[in-house]
Amino acid sequence: MVVAKKWVLVKRSEGYPKETDIVLQEETLPELKVDEFLVEAVYLSVDPYMRAMMPRSEVNTTMIGSQVGKIIESKNPKYPVGKYVIGQYGWRTHTIVSGNEFTRILPDLGGLPSSLALGILGMPGNTAYFGFLELCKPKAGETVVVSAAGGAVGSIVGQIAKIKGCTVVGIAGSDQKGKWLTDELGFDSFINYKTDNVEEALKKAAPKGVDCYFDNVGGEISTIVMNQMNEFGRVAICGAVSYYNEKEIPKVPAPQFAIVSKQLRVEGFIAIRWTGRWMEGLKQNTEWIKQGKLKYHETVTDGFENMFKAFVDMLKGGNMGKALVKA
Ligand SMILES: NC(=O)c1ccc[n+]([C@@H]2O[C@H](COP(=O)([O-])OP(=O)(O)OC[C@H]3O[C@@H](n4cnc5c(N)ncnc54)[C@H](OP(=O)(O)O)[C@@H]3O)[C@@H](O)[C@H]2O)c1
Repeated sequence: MVVAKKWVLVKRSEGYPKETDIVLQEETLPELKVDEFLVEAVYLSVDPYMRAMMPRSEVNTTMIGSQVGKIIESKNPKYPVGKYVIGQYGWRTHTIVSGNEFTRILPDLGGLPSSLALGILGMPGNTAYFGFLELCKPKAGETVVVSAAGGAVGSIVGQIAKIKGCTVVGIAGSDQKGKWLTDELGFDSFINYKTDNVEEALKKAAPKGVDCYFDNVGGEISTIVMNQMNEFGRVAICGAVSYYNEKEIPKVPAPQFAIVSKQLRVEGFIAIRWTGRWMEGLKQNTEWIKQGKLKYHETVTDGFENMFKAFVDMLKGGNMGKALVKA
């Protein structure tokens, strides 16, 4: 008899999630039926979208999310014991899965760690790869700005921009992240939005103006960046993490004047738009890692019981690169 642990949303959070909003529970799992298999979580992802989805999530349901897990029991010959899989099973230690529902066998990562399937070789990696290249269409010599640059998606976008020959400015919330971006990842400059005057700092960092903006945060930072864009600049709207923990969307200066007067192309996206080309992004990112052109960092929290803490830490900027939990 297997007893699964799971984190259940019992109250939609107002502001940053509280310990009383998401609680750890146990569930005794039944015996496997034909076609089913049992997955034990190895790595679990904590992502901003989990907070963004909360207002639309049912209460008393398991927190949503993806994990890399190992099959430990199986009545499905296509999913034998010992195989590693990636699945959208939510915040759970053990999950009974039927058929191939929400499951992919972990692809060959060429000897790289399996945890990367939740980061640079998974959804965040492809968000950066497709969102940036397809929407921003960067050209060598152009200036690119990335917000939430020290996170899972932003840190990859900036490096891809460097690979494409651009000048890259990262905006993030700590000098430690800034040092990592410039000294290790090759960003040209860094703005700390918590301590710098972003408008003035950006004028210095991008004296020829901004051609591409990869927007992870929304809000005032984004209007400031758009006001400094060049004519026909491109903006990829990836997320708005600056709002996710706010009760009301803050009133900030609108970017419309910049969009019209500079004739900007502004487009939002969801990474699954490129599901049909998914492996292309993973293959290219793997190749760049092997060539030493793309680096990654993971902020790993130990222990399934610490998922809530890892989640809130990430929302507050405690992660550098991809935030993960090792079960
Ligand atoms: N469209 C898609 O398909 C897609 C897919 C994946 C992710 N996303 C979006 O991409 C963005 C980044 O996601 P991620 O997974 O890479 O997360 P992440 O950047 O690794 O983690 C979130 C980061 O947001 C920053 N942040 C928190 N509050 C902020 C605020 N008020 N203002 C500015 N920055 C703030 C924090 O860094 P600081 O230290 O810099 O504050 C934190 O580390 C999110 O908006 C997410 O929703 C979209």
